[in-house]
This record gives sequence, structure tokens and C-alpha cells, in this order.
Amino acid sequence: MGKVCIKGVGEFCHHYPSVAAVVTARVGEKANAMAAAWHSPLSRKPPLYGVAISPKRFTHELILEAGEFGVNFLPFEKAEVIASLGGSTGRKADKFRLFDIAEEKPVLTSAPILAEAYAAYECQLVSHHTFGDHTWFVGEIVMVHLVEGALTDEGVLDLSSVKPAMYLGADRYVTTLRESLCYLDRKAWTKK
Ligand SMILES: Cc1cc2nc3c(=O)[nH]c(=O)nc-3n(C[C@H](O)[C@H](O)[C@H](O)COP(=O)(O)O)c2cc1C
Repeated sequence: MGKVCIKGVGEFCHHYPSVAAVVTARVGEKANAMAAAWHSPLSRKPPLYGVAISPKRFTHELILEAGEFGVNFLPFEKAEVIASLGGSTGRKADKFRLFDIAEEKPVLTSAPILAEAYAAYECQLVSHHTFGDHTWFVGEIVMVHLVEGALTDEGVLDLSSVKPAMYLGADRYVTTLRESLCYLDRKAWTKK
């Protein structure tokens, strides 16, 4: 199959699929949540996590003010919630009420934790920097919320109990199939 070379990124979908997260923040009575597909781990010690948020988002304001944010991972069955949170702004409406989203109490921060999340990080903002049209917020993970049985003994997501919600771009969502799982020991696959 031939390849084409294209100048410019167009819809910028080539790096998908990636896990669709829900980024949250709270300032006083005002809590908000938005969908985010641009996020990444950055460091293990200390545990740092980055999210790319456009200054147009209400969440952007809240993170700056709160100095904290949450990163929530919802299962594929809740992809509609992700679409709802990514298709509306919390500037004028309380999305938690509007979409009937249940919250759990955070432990060390003010950032809302979604009850439906199989895993969530509470992050304290340590740095932020503007790159082009997004702000890269870096948070130290100070608390992890994890549903019991979500991980296997090896510490990876147990696909027989959790199906992650992944974003393919253009409002398409997919998940992973347990049947596609393969174990490739990196040492066994290294050429000697
Ligand atoms: C699947 C999905 C992923 C998204 N990823 C991002 C992202 O990584 N960064 C961003 O700034 N906006 C992203 N958005 C858009 C925001 O979620 C959307 O603009 C949202 O309405 C912002 O809400 P807020 O104004 O309440 O903060 C995404 C939307 C969807 C549906």
C-alpha cells in the first residue's frame, strides 16, 4: 500500500485512538468537568501528569484558580457521558446536574471525582505553560482512586472487568477487546 505525504495535520487525528479522560476542577460551589483526549503521564517520581486544555474552556479558568484538577477514566459504557461533557460548557450550566453525574468526595484536593470512573487521579498543579493554542497543565498526582478488581495481579487494566473508553477522533469512540491482548516480553524480543 502506498503512502501519501500531507503538509499540515488537518483534523489532527493520526495519533488516535487514545483514552478519553474527563478533567475536573472545583472552585467553591462551582464544579466542572470536560472531556479531554490530550493528556499524558510525565514522570514516575514524583508522579506527574499533564493535560492540554484550551484557554477557551471554562475548565481552564477553574484549574488556574483552584490550583488543582482531577483526571477521571470512564468505562466505554459511559462514552455518552464523555460526549456530553465534551459537547457543552460549564460556564452557564452545572454539568453535574444537567447530565446527572454522581460525584465522590476527593481525599486531598477539591477536584471532583466521578463515581462512574474506574480510576481517577487527584492532581495538584505544579506548572503550566502555553504551547500554541493550548495550555499544558502539569499536576502532581497526590491521590489515586481505583475500583477494586480493575487491575490484574500484574498491575495492568483487567479487560475482563473494565473496558476503557477510547477516542478515535471525529466523535467516534472505541474500546479494547480482551481477545486482542498479547504478552510480548521485551527481553525475549530483544536481539542479542
Ligand atoms: C472526546 C473529546 C476530547 C476532547 N479533548 C480535549 C482536550 O484534550 N483539550 C481541550 O481543551 N478540549 C478537549 N475537548 C473539548 C472540550 O471537552 C469541550 O470544549 C468542552 O465543552 C469544554 O467544557 P468547559 O467549557 O465546561 O470546560 C474534547 C472534546 C471531546 C468530545
